Amino acid sequence: MKIINIVGARPNFMKMAPIIEAMNKHPEKIQHLLVHTGQHYDQKMSKSFFDDLGMPKPDINLEVGSGSHAEQTARIMVAFEKVCLDEEPDLVIVVGDVNSTMACTITAKKLGIKVAHVEAGLRSRDMSMPEEINRLCTDVLCDYLFTTDHFADENLAAEGVSADKVFFVGNVMIDTLLKHREMVASLVFAEGRGLVSGNYATLTMHRPGNVDDKQTLQGILEALTEISHRVPIVFPIHPRTKKMAKQFGLDHFFNTGDKIEGIWITEPLGYLEFLNLNMNARMVLTDSGGLQEETTVLGVPCLTMRPNTERPITCEVGSNIMVGNCKKTILREAFKILDGEVAKGRVPDRWDGKSANRIVDTLLTVL
Ligand code: UD1
Repeated sequence: MKIINIVGARPNFMKMAPIIEAMNKHPEKIQHLLVHTGQHYDQKMSKSFFDDLGMPKPDINLEVGSGSHAEQTARIMVAFEKVCLDEEPDLVIVVGDVNSTMACTITAKKLGIKVAHVEAGLRSRDMSMPEEINRLCTDVLCDYLFTTDHFADENLAAEGVSADKVFFVGNVMIDTLLKHREMVASLVFAEGRGLVSGNYATLTMHRPGNVDDKQTLQGILEALTEISHRVPIVFPIHPRTKKMAKQFGLDHFFNTGDKIEGIWITEPLGYLEFLNLNMNARMVLTDSGGLQEETTVLGVPCLTMRPNTERPITCEVGSNIMVGNCKKTILREAFKILDGEVAKGRVPDRWDGKSANRIVDTLLTVL
């Protein structure tokens, strides 16, 4: 069986790593190729993750780079079509909800190639998010849908997806977290940077909804500045946020010096270092998807600065609280946590480090 595995952007790498590892246990049955679309290309957004996760180098890099959504999607489709025609795979596997996920799905399906989606069924019901459009298009086309929780199963059932295409396997990103957790706990990244364990917050923020509008971004940065008077905030800044803050003249909110105080920015961090910082943080502030899940497993309080989430399980059983992007709400919930009001939650079912094995076992049965 010949399988093409797709990665494109930062959040894909830690999801694909355990799937490749699980496939390597069956060399007599599975031949696999790794295609990187090149959606993310910086050393710190891409290559460092391959090094940290011990992932094989991509067999093929489409090198599509940045562009508008249509440009990027189209470039991936044109380049990936050639790969499919040359390689004639039996199956393409896509993960997550980035533009690469949707573009490769459409391309493969139009050539009659089966596609499996890992992390299927997540829905924010927010069509202003490009990821929601990617999720919907991908799921409607895919032959095999691997889900992380009961909400995803229910969403797919409500959309009329036949149950025999849906497999509840758990969360491959958590496979990666659990694999590295113990080793990462013994690292001294936080202390090495002069941070006191439990006495700082970490921040990620890059969603267009938060950073592409000056007033919204300013309100969030004002809230974060107030929080940072009680605990410094470590912010590995995403290229998009850096660009927009500069454009709006808001970069004076950031501390770029050596002393860790205020909103202290760093370059994007590697997987291992960022996991170490998050597991030792008092709280995490984010607008990312994956961090809501990682903090749930780590038992670290998480405030998600979005109006909705496609990962409600992290609020139902985990440590995640939705705070939107309103300054007052962010401050209220952050101060509750800093005053010790913390809900730790529990780990969702099947987020147990074995999800990638379940996926590969399923594929060996159904294909
Ligand atoms: C993409 C995903 C988002 C994911 C995020 C993680 C889509 C629609 N969005 O958003 O779901 O949470 O990745 O980071 O697929 N840039 C660089 N270097 C890079 C990559 C990007 O400088 O290696 C800059 C470019 O200016 C680019 C901008 O970041 O235009 C945005 O990159 P893009 O891949 O379009 O989307 P992200 O915001 O990273």
